[in-house]
Amino acid sequence: MRGLKNKIVVITGGLGDLGYATAIRLKEEGCTVVLLDLQPDTGNKATAIGARFLQADISDEDAVASISASIEKEVGPVHILVNTAAYFIFKGIEATAEEWQKINAVNIGGTSLMAKYMVLQMKKNGGGSIINFSSVSGFVGQANFATYNATKFAIRGLTKCWAQDLAPFNIRVNTLCPGYIYTKAFVDSCNKLELDIEEENKRASAMHLLNRQGRPEEVAAAAAFLASDDASFITGSDLLVDGGYLAK
Ligand SMILES: NC(=O)c1ccc[n+]([C@@H]2O[C@H](COP(=O)([O-])OP(=O)(O)OC[C@H]3O[C@@H](n4cnc5c(N)ncnc54)[C@H](O)[C@@H]3O)[C@@H](O)[C@H]2O)c1
Repeated sequence: MRGLKNKIVVITGGLGDLGYATAIRLKEEGCTVVLLDLQPDTGNKATAIGARFLQADISDEDAVASISASIEKEVGPVHILVNTAAYFIFKGIEATAEEWQKINAVNIGGTSLMAKYMVLQMKKNGGGSIINFSSVSGFVGQANFATYNATKFAIRGLTKCWAQDLAPFNIRVNTLCPGYIYTKAFVDSCNKLELDIEEENKRASAMHLLNRQGRPEEVAAAAAFLASDDASFITGSDLLVDGGYLAK
């Protein structure tokens, strides 16, 4: 894809399945990649693909300011921000104030703080691209998912506002909205709920026109496209990578 070689990329939630798949793809495209995650990189996943790793909580402004400064000093001013980090709470009307605070602080607040500090560096580069991970859950209601879906709708709202604010600085802002992707998180949640993985996969597959769950590398390809100059006239958009989930 055009314009990715030697670009500096930060991926939040970089140890998660979709963030990591995006890191692999952007490395292949010639980017310098920094992974950021709340968890320590105990498996040395960053080193394995030639990326750097920083541990931080994106909902903590001091931490975000500090890692932003060290990235700029040690790697250079960032061109591309991929915001995949998310906290998952699936609750309906019964959600508590504490749960709302926690999920909003990470999914909305953390996404915003990362953009706030990375934009300062993108301006020094004369432009950039921000890719915020929303979801099909940012378009429709799903039973007992209010906490999560509210944040995924909010991310689409933030994206459209920032697209307006940042267009004068040649910074494009878009969302990437996956359908159900077959990830470790899917398998873990089946195990946790003692559900049959094959059965659950069939059930999830049937929600998509293509009758399967997506693969992390299919999401990564779309993220690389949005980051690249091939998407140079795309800003304020939602890119569905949902196998036709929302077309039904
Ligand atoms: N997997 C899917 O099917 C799917 C579908 C639609 C949308 N999405 C979206 O894609 C994104 C990535 O999903 P995933 O499946 O890779 O999830 P994941 O749980 O594998 O990865 C999320 C990562 O974010 C990190 N994280 C959580 N809180 C953090 C914080 N405060 N600071 C820094 N890092 C933090 C976690 O440690 C984890 O490594 C999410 O935004 C999710 O909403 C996923």
